Amino acid sequence: MKEMQIPFNRPFGKGNAIVYLQEVLSSGHISGNGGFTNKCHSFFNQFYSAKTLLTTSGTSALEMAALLTDINPGDEIIMPSFTFISTANAFLLRGAKIIFADVCNEYPNIDSTKIEELLTDKTKAIVPVHYAGVACEMDNLTRLSENNNLTIIEDAAHAFSASYKGKPLGSFGKFGILSFHETKNITSGEGGLLIINNENDFQRAEILWEKGTNRSSFQRGEIKKYEWIDIGSSFLASEINAALLYSQIEIVDEIQKRRLEIWHKYFNELKILQEKGKVILPQIPEYATVNGHLFFLECDSKKSETI
Ligand SMILES: Cc1ncc(COP(=O)(O)O)c(C=O)c1O
Repeated sequence: MKEMQIPFNRPFGKGNAIVYLQEVLSSGHISGNGGFTNKCHSFFNQFYSAKTLLTTSGTSALEMAALLTDINPGDEIIMPSFTFISTANAFLLRGAKIIFADVCNEYPNIDSTKIEELLTDKTKAIVPVHYAGVACEMDNLTRLSENNNLTIIEDAAHAFSASYKGKPLGSFGKFGILSFHETKNITSGEGGLLIINNENDFQRAEILWEKGTNRSSFQRGEIKKYEWIDIGSSFLASEINAALLYSQIEIVDEIQKRRLEIWHKYFNELKILQEKGKVILPQIPEYATVNGHLFFLECDSKKSETI
């Protein structure tokens, strides 16, 4: 029998993408922080009731969060042992030591009951990852961070439109990040978002975002010239990416409907394998929602070939 490969992902290609890309190309402003960036910011600021900044990737949003948390060499950062490399790299680049916490048996998210034993006087932050868009136990994590004066940076790369007890993921930590990589629910090809949940951090965030300069204030006409005032990098996304992303934001309900249909189809039609004891399907905690980001199943790797 011919083997059939299911594509890992297919970007959702409808909407106004071509119209908006043409608009950007003929506008003369294709670098960052223009009209489409503003439209995306307005949408996300309202969605998260926070300040947000569009970045070149989820990775660069994590790097910004590490800079804004003033991570220094030797600081310890706790994160799940099951995640994507960017979660760790962003902090390794600041000289931090990564401390991996185990994930839960029922769901591969950080086990909040296993964190306390990992704390030392060098622990600076916890980075929960909402794997496949399913929420971590945020009440426990928030309590832990408050009791031990730790910063929470939520890696919500997979988690756009998912929530914990009704509140959007990315809005619990001091910072949250999203990814708009091609594989994600809404995409700009490559792209990301930094969610800044404490208004006091916004001014510095905007400076780091624009290569350590106050160019954003200059563009708003608040100052006559812009200058170098902090460290930073080129974290801002181009208008080309912002235009593409905005075209996806406009059809987000349609995208989510289709993603959820596919997720539930997998879940229902693979139940038979679970009943036969061959696989374990995702066990969604009652406080979490499903956003249809990705579907996974657990199998015993030694036996999986016989499924
Ligand atoms: C958990 C997690 N964090 C961070 C990232 C980085 O996002 P990006 O690819 O946009 O840099 C990814 C990418 O898939 C991810 O899965």
